[in-house]
Amino acid sequence: MTMETVVSGIRSTGKLHLGNYFGALKNFVKMQYVNNCFFFIADYHSLTTHPTPKDLYGNVKQVLAEYLASGIDPEAAAVYLQSDVPEVIELYLLLNMNAYVGELERTTTFKEKVRLQPENVNAGLLTYPVLMAADIIIHKAVKVPVGKDQEQNLEMTRKFAKRFNRMYNVDFFPEPAPYNFGEDLIKIPGLDGSGKMGKSEENGIYLVDDPETIRKKIIRAVTDTGPTKMNQKITGPVKNLFTLLEVVSTLDIVDYYRDQYHSCKIRYMDMKKQLAEDIIKFTTPIRDRILEILANDDYLRKVMRIGAEKARASASKTLKEARKIIGFKSV
Ligand code: TRP
Repeated sequence: MTMETVVSGIRSTGKLHLGNYFGALKNFVKMQYVNNCFFFIADYHSLTTHPTPKDLYGNVKQVLAEYLASGIDPEAAAVYLQSDVPEVIELYLLLNMNAYVGELERTTTFKEKVRLQPENVNAGLLTYPVLMAADIIIHKAVKVPVGKDQEQNLEMTRKFAKRFNRMYNVDFFPEPAPYNFGEDLIKIPGLDGSGKMGKSEENGIYLVDDPETIRKKIIRAVTDTGPTKMNQKITGPVKNLFTLLEVVSTLDIVDYYRDQYHSCKIRYMDMKKQLAEDIIKFTTPIRDRILEILANDDYLRKVMRIGAEKARASASKTLKEARKIIGFKSV
């Protein structure tokens, strides 16, 4: 039986947080042994926000170290930098010829960017979904583990794949589907009472945060006034804290605080102290590994080189065939 091909990437725009871990990385780790996995760092995509040269590579290294520290195994999966695989960019150019400005302008993420950063509406932002499609179909992936916010981009990928097939009357690119491994993805809420932990908003716990920082962030996290009725439903920011507790604490601790809540005896300060300690217990080994890997440049370079070799072997095969289908002279 051949393993199904999975592709996913994370933009290197900063340190990874608990939301990335529980929403993506943890699943990547499980998939890597049962699928043919390509996990990459989307450093070209990160250029839309114009990082400085120092930040560009610093962020790439950081995310790579965090991938590895979270358990992504470079022997099992192809772990690489997008910018190490030039075939992706050639496919991107080819796909751009059949991507229409109108449909790109209508994507929600693009419209959001236009609204949020009107001073930097660059063409790279407009064609972001085309580059993402190239990332995915260059390996003929059938499954793409991504969050809800990426569903429209994935729909565009399917559209471009189908369009290519139709245009040349071939059955060449498969249509990739969103994918979670087994269970539903856990959406990790932010500490500011918002729905989602994000990296741009300062509402998250980073995998590399030190214990003191974690304690401070959790103590400051938004709660609510306590429950006023027995057995009241847990909602809002308090529910967010419970969601975090559920992923890092043991069942008896979660049950204890749930009981405290339902009997209106809960003291949020106690719960937060417990939560902070359990997060620290969870992140400390990961943090130690991140720091250790970051200090080992030779190892990082080796991982990048081996990953690029694997990714290029797969990508060049697809690209060669695609060029032939389009009608370029064969070499
Ligand atoms: N757009 C994705 C994000 O912002 C990152 C990404 C780029 C990606 N290319 C991809 C994800 C290909 C999955 C597959 O999170």
